[in-house]
Amino acid sequence: MELERVVPWGRSMDEYIAMFFLSEQDLHSRIVSVADGPASFNAEMAALARPVISVDPLYRFSAAEIAQRIDAVYPEVMQQVERHQQDFIWDRIANPTMLSQLRMQAMETFLADFQQDEAHWRYLDASLPDLPLSDKQFDLALCSHFLFLYSEQNDLQFHIQACQELCRIAREVRIYPLVTLDNSPSPYLKPVIESLRFLGLEASRQHVSYQFQRGATEMLVIRRPQDHIVA
Ligand SMILES: C[S@@+](CC[C@H](N)C(=O)[O-])C[C@H]1O[C@@H](n2cnc3c(N)ncnc32)[C@H](O)[C@@H]1O
Repeated sequence: MELERVVPWGRSMDEYIAMFFLSEQDLHSRIVSVADGPASFNAEMAALARPVISVDPLYRFSAAEIAQRIDAVYPEVMQQVERHQQDFIWDRIANPTMLSQLRMQAMETFLADFQQDEAHWRYLDASLPDLPLSDKQFDLALCSHFLFLYSEQNDLQFHIQACQELCRIAREVRIYPLVTLDNSPSPYLKPVIESLRFLGLEASRQHVSYQFQRGATEMLVIRRPQDHIVA
């Protein structure tokens, strides 16, 4: 496999908390974060002694290879952001310079953690829609900036299978954002929700306080009716 293009999304734990509306109780639950890429959520949670499992095909590469790829694509990605500034909401992140600093910082935190032998068990090289994880191994599965965002690259069947797989391994699933790369609502959202409900799962859109990509104000929450995390 070729090293996939690394878009420096590299988000921090603060952003994960806002995107997924994570409560203290959520943060103490068993979390798997799928399509996690070079985000620092795992590293920051580990520093708080709350280990999270991250899953991404990117993790088959070494820290040096990932760092090299980030360095290669980073300037181009930032140029794209500069050209399309109107596609983003500049409040929490004030401008492209701040964005670049925050994302590089998060990716450096990820790389420093990822290259430690002790951390290997927290980073799993695997791909949706088939994950080598047990049924209900986790309380919460998170998936940020992959499903629905890449609706052009992955078809409806892939989305349905991926959501079912996340529901198999976790009691609750949260997916953000629900828009595509051009900020339009994903055409797959409605059919995915219908297919999950047909299987007896609860699937609903919930507003979140985070918005960076314009229009990305909701996450999809999926649960088995009997599997609510008890407060
Ligand atoms: C835009 S990044 C999102 C990274 C992180 N979740 C964030 O929000 O900062 C998308 C990630 O999806 C990963 N990916 C691509 N195909 C995948 C698949 N079939 N299953 C799981 N992850 C995949 C890529 O390697 C990449 O790291």
